[in-house]
Amino acid sequence: MKVLGFETSCDECSVAVVEDGKEILSNIVATQIEHHAPWNGVVPEIASRLHVEWIDEVTSAALSEAGVSLADDIDAVAVTSRPGLIGSLLVGLSYAKGLAWSAGKPWVGVDHMMAHLYAPHLEYDIDYPYLGLIVSGGHTIICKVESMEDVTVLGTTIDDACGEAFDKVAKFYNMGYPGGVYLDKLAEKGDPAAFSFTEPRLHKGNHRYDVSYSGLKTAAVNQLDQFRREGAESSLENIAASFRKAAIDMLVKKLKLAAADTGIRRVVAGGGVSANRYLRKSIGDDESLESYFPSMQLCTDNGAMIAALGYHRLMMGERSHLDLNASARVSGFRRSYP
Ligand code: KG4
Ligand code: ZN
Repeated sequence: MKVLGFETSCDECSVAVVEDGKEILSNIVATQIEHHAPWNGVVPEIASRLHVEWIDEVTSAALSEAGVSLADDIDAVAVTSRPGLIGSLLVGLSYAKGLAWSAGKPWVGVDHMMAHLYAPHLEYDIDYPYLGLIVSGGHTIICKVESMEDVTVLGTTIDDACGEAFDKVAKFYNMGYPGGVYLDKLAEKGDPAAFSFTEPRLHKGNHRYDVSYSGLKTAAVNQLDQFRREGAESSLENIAASFRKAAIDMLVKKLKLAAADTGIRRVVAGGGVSANRYLRKSIGDDESLESYFPSMQLCTDNGAMIAALGYHRLMMGERSHLDLNASARVSGFRRSYP
């Protein structure tokens, strides 16, 4: 079964063709980075307008690179319907709906965060259960995954998302855009012990697996400021390395706590922050864990993961209808995502 997948939840306009949820025949990702870079962050109106301009051409490119025609070869359509920037989501959802309806193909709206979690399934055969680590610009979720239909959120952030904290620190120090990518690069050349950050204390009851980034972000922003005022030796590389270590160590610690408590040693990561070198190394080097990370191009937003999860949902018999709307947020996701 060949599925045409659409992803427009944020600033990547991406369309892919995936066969049987595994084989990527094409995965076109048109990034809007240079259009948002002058603002050091995604401008929602610019994002939606660019999706409107680009989506038809990106779709044609995905079909032609896969060497398929919509009418003859595509069996179904999948599209991100939540969560994300509402204007951006509506462009992809409306376009995909119209296309599926006019071509008489079944279609399904899928959840972006679940698609990030599904991305490593494109490249590996992964058994259940496992612990999922979904880390992106908007979400930070540690969950227990018995199947794609049975996901229990164990921990999440109580304030900023992990990627958001990377982006804010990078923006403050003008490290480059997108912040997480540049901060990670700078950190490779810095000393992670140059600055020490205290870990937030969130070990009580319900918060056992939760993380918090707002204090760390503020500390990272204040600390260099203070060092500069005092004229001490310091560097962007050092602040990047120290911040990265604190941000990722916190996450890995909670994940390992969940592994110890549940006895589940298999870990599957996804989302933009799963591209982070130090995160990949911290979890990958731990021989007590069996870990799966998406390859770099499948960490950040892409249509292939949408097509792949769409295939899985379609095989489960799911179909969406023309009244399906987009949702910027997923209500009540804290403890029972989705
Ligand atoms: O999954 P994604 O492409 O979009 C969302 O669903 O949010 O994730 C984007 C986030 C951004 O915050 C970006 O800075 C972060 O992922 N990111 C990274 C790295 N690459 C992307 N954060 C840390 N290290 C990286 N190497
Ligand atoms: Zn994403």
